[in-house]
This record gives sequence, structure tokens and C-alpha cells, in this order.
Amino acid sequence: MTITLAFDVYGTLIDTHGVISALEKHVGNRATEFSRVWREKQLEYSFRRGLMQNYANFAVCTGNALDYTCAYFKLALSIEEKEELIGVYKLLPAFADVNTGLARAKQAGFRMFAFSNGSAEAVELLLQNAGIADCFLGVVSVDEIKSYKPNPGVYSHFLRRADAVGAETWLISSNPFDVIGAVSFGMRAAWLKRSPEAIFDPWGIEPTLIADSLVSLIEQIGRK
Ligand code: 2OP
Repeated sequence: MTITLAFDVYGTLIDTHGVISALEKHVGNRATEFSRVWREKQLEYSFRRGLMQNYANFAVCTGNALDYTCAYFKLALSIEEKEELIGVYKLLPAFADVNTGLARAKQAGFRMFAFSNGSAEAVELLLQNAGIADCFLGVVSVDEIKSYKPNPGVYSHFLRRADAVGAETWLISSNPFDVIGAVSFGMRAAWLKRSPEAIFDPWGIEPTLIADSLVSLIEQIGRK
């Protein structure tokens, strides 16, 4: 049996809060809070667009969410300043454990894909910039079916594109909504608990496994 891994990108491999230092010059010590609201709104907009069947790609959700967050913080940024922040977002860094975790997964012989709300082009750029693009057999983007996680159709699309079956496929994500979506659809899903404070939504749908680092997560999948 060959195991296929679907790696979520934003928040799992790539640190969305890598934008905090660029925000500090605009909002000082409120930069962490700004980054959190920006990310939460970006995801909320993707959920709403999915439900409304009014798709626009993830970069639009990111840009609209930045506008909302500026209004929320009463921050007037010029078009150039917003473009600069979006530019930082396009080149966000990978988390520190990602290189080692992906190398372990490769050694274990897993088939690895990036699987994201981001467009294939945006994800490819992030992975190239982080030096990890070569670890993957490909990028599967929800953009290909114009919907968003956690629509069950996007997990089904992943299986088709990766030529994989649910019972031999793991979603790997730090985003609880993504893990719940994948398990509800019928895939196995590992929750990467990226901070001790992270809370898994109490819905009665549990992750197949939980780990606090990518390396430990890959080792646990290897033992299953
Ligand atoms: C991703 O799909 C959920 O933002 C996350 O990359």
C-alpha cells in the first residue's frame, strides 16, 4: 500500500504570521493581532464565497481581508503600502520543522502533494521560495474546481488529481476546519498542533492523529 499525503499549505507548511514584522512599521505592537484578524477574515471570506457559489481566487480573499482589517484597525494605507504587504504574503516563509519533516516523509516513500486554497501559481511560488517545491509530486489547488475547503468536493477532487483512494490518503493540516472537512469526507487526517494554545473545534469529529511537529507527525503516520 502506497500512502499519499496531501499537505495543506497556509498555516501548515507556510507561516501566515511571517507578515508580522512587515506589519510592525504600520501598527507597532498590534501587529500580531492585525495578522490574526487578517488571516481569520481571509478564511471567513473563502467559506462565504464557497457557500454563496461566488468564487474568486484566494488572492482576492486575501486582498479583501486586508482591506477589512485596515478598516477594523482604522489604518489608512496607500495602494503601494498594501501592495507591499501583499508582496510579503506571496513570499511567506516555511515553518522551521518543514524541511526535516518533508525529508522524513520522502525517505518513508510517501507520495506527497501540496493541497491548498491558494492558486497553483501562488502555491508554486511559495514552495519555490521556501526551497521545498521539489519534495512534491504536484500542487493540487481548489482553484481547479472553483470552490474552497471544506467543501467535500475539493477533497474528492484531490483524490482524483492525485490518483489516490481515501483509505490510503492523509490530509496533513494545522487548520482544524480542514481536518474536520477531510475526515467528514472520508479521508484520514492528521492535525498538526502548531501551538500549545491551538484548540480543535469540539464537533465530535476527531483527527485520526495529532502531533506537535511535522517530524513527529510523519513518524506517527509511518507506524499506522
Ligand atoms: C490552505 O488551503 C487552508 O489556507 C489553507 O492552504
